[in-house]
Amino acid sequence: MNERTILVTGGAGYIGSHACVELLASGYQVVVIDNLCNSKVETLHRVERITGKSLQFYEADIRDKKALAEIFTQESITAVMHFAGLKAVGESCEQPLNYYHNNVYGTLVLAEAMSEANVKQLVFSSSATVYGESASVQYSEDFPLGPINPYGRTKFMVEEILRDLSAADTIIGAQSPWKIALLRYFNPIGAHESGLIGEDPNGIPNNLMPYVSQVAIGKLAQLSVFGDDYPTRDGTGIRDYIHVVDLVKGHVKALEALQSEKFKSGGCKAYNLGAGRGYSVLDIIKTFETVTGRTVNYKIAPRRAGDLAEYFANPELAYKELGWKAEKRLDDMIADTWNWQCKNPEGYA
Ligand code: NAD
Ligand code: UFG
Repeated sequence: MNERTILVTGGAGYIGSHACVELLASGYQVVVIDNLCNSKVETLHRVERITGKSLQFYEADIRDKKALAEIFTQESITAVMHFAGLKAVGESCEQPLNYYHNNVYGTLVLAEAMSEANVKQLVFSSSATVYGESASVQYSEDFPLGPINPYGRTKFMVEEILRDLSAADTIIGAQSPWKIALLRYFNPIGAHESGLIGEDPNGIPNNLMPYVSQVAIGKLAQLSVFGDDYPTRDGTGIRDYIHVVDLVKGHVKALEALQSEKFKSGGCKAYNLGAGRGYSVLDIIKTFETVTGRTVNYKIAPRRAGDLAEYFANPELAYKELGWKAEKRLDDMIADTWNWQCKNPEGYA
């Protein structure tokens, strides 16, 4: 039995809620802070239903210094998983200040509160979007970084801040150094196998998988495939899709690594969390149809601004250093997405 208590920021969200399940199932105590700007408290009730365990919830904003200080005083937090943030690329181009304030300033406030409470283990939700365009389509952690939109830049800036924070320890010879894992997600999809928690986007989805499943169930009329003239095997965009449950297992592995010999003297390290193989938009549609027996009505549309043709992860480092690799196949990701969609046609509403 693990008695450690983990603060999960953004724990009511899509990935955070799956992380809460995984943490509780692994014997951790869980405290959630979420301002519910993109989620509902019902999600947390379902996390408790799945696990048969309870968690502590604070409805608050991570930019609220007083609220954070209170949480660190009230709860014996040992580490933080930081998911809270805004994540829509298009919206970040329209509202850059909102994105920098929420994602960058929010993380500064959190890191200050952690520092004051002497809680210095942090697992951060970064993104493959920090790489930008690259010479190779298989991204390794040592590739140059160069995000191409404000959302990606918030992730890049937070990574830089956290690297600086960790480097400062070596200058001042800190007694309790920062231990930080920057987890660069590729394309998380899927849902918990119970069908009780899953992705519940507001309004019309931006991302492929929720869009496809809403077309298949009849909520949306037709999928637009953004471009069939990319230099890829079938002309459509290729991405590395990863099951959200595999993804959050990677977080628990990262947390364990932060407590191990490897991070004994502290450090800040980035890891790709991807399956290591790419599927095209047409692959996704075809597999979705096979797995669900439904037809996905689609048309070919112009390319979406800012999309790259193809990229996927080199996940070797996470395997070598965290002992983690993605286990679930595309079929599982789609079956679990569909199960969630059918059981919750209106999401959590
Ligand atoms: P989500 O929107 O479902 O979850 C984010 C949660 O954070 C929500 O519950 C929201 O209410 C909360 N939140 C936002 N700002 C907050 C604030 N200032 N204070 C308190 N709570 C706040 O998103 P998700 O898909 O679960 O993503 C989680 C993290 O992973 C985000 O940081 C996102 O940028 C990152 N990420 C997501 C993807 C993806 O494709 N889903 C890919 C790469 C990285
Ligand atoms: N696509 C369509 N039609 C749609 C939606 C998407 O054809 O309606 C295509 C896109 O052009 C792309 C692929 O499906 O080729 C995947 O698109 P998503 O919007 O699902 O995902 P992205 O790869 O664009 O971006 C996602 C997250 C980002 C994150 C990135 C990390 O949305 O936040 O993965 O790799 F940064």
